[in-house]
Amino acid sequence: MKNVRDYIRTIPDFPHEGIMFRDVTTLFSDPRGFRMAIDQMLHPYAGTRIDKVVGLEARGFIMGGAIAHQLSVGFVPIRKKGKLPGKTLQQDYKLEYGEATMEIHDDAIQAGEKVLVVDDLLATGGTAEAGIKLLERLGAEIISTSFIIDLPALGGRKRLEAMGMDVQILCE
Ligand code: PRP
Ligand code: ADE
Repeated sequence: MKNVRDYIRTIPDFPHEGIMFRDVTTLFSDPRGFRMAIDQMLHPYAGTRIDKVVGLEARGFIMGGAIAHQLSVGFVPIRKKGKLPGKTLQQDYKLEYGEATMEIHDDAIQAGEKVLVVDDLLATGGTAEAGIKLLERLGAEIISTSFIIDLPALGGRKRLEAMGMDVQILCE
């Protein structure tokens, strides 16, 4: 039987030379693969109270929406700068291949709400760290962070764990 890792393909030199791009579209487009990934991401949180699922743009929205639906809780997007229409908090961060700014609506989370942060991939951890900082500024209680795939050589998991985060990963 195939596992989640078997559905993810690697495309060399995208978006820049030297980057081995982990392409999860092949996982998402397969009905068994997508269900397996969502079910496995949900598994550690059985019986845990979660008030909201937070997805990191863009691929975090795909699992985040499915997980929020399954938990019957709300979904909150953290987006790249300039996409959210309301009043936002902003956080700059560095990527494996560039720099960017993340935003969240300043009324998206109430202080004390228990949130699960979701994205497809953990590389340097810069994106997730920016998301965590935004959520902490809003007073959220971050129950856990969950990713389909980790690139351990880039140190993201250690970086998030050093911030005191629980980190759940399906594959490397
Ligand atoms: C990818 C991925 C994560 C981030 C991980 O998104 O989906 O969000 O990079 O890298 P990091 O751990 O080094 O921060 P990308 O920035 O390519 O944006 P996209 O999902 O909007 O394409
Ligand atoms: N985001 C950052 N690094 C990545 C990689 N190697 N593959 C897919 N998404 C990424």
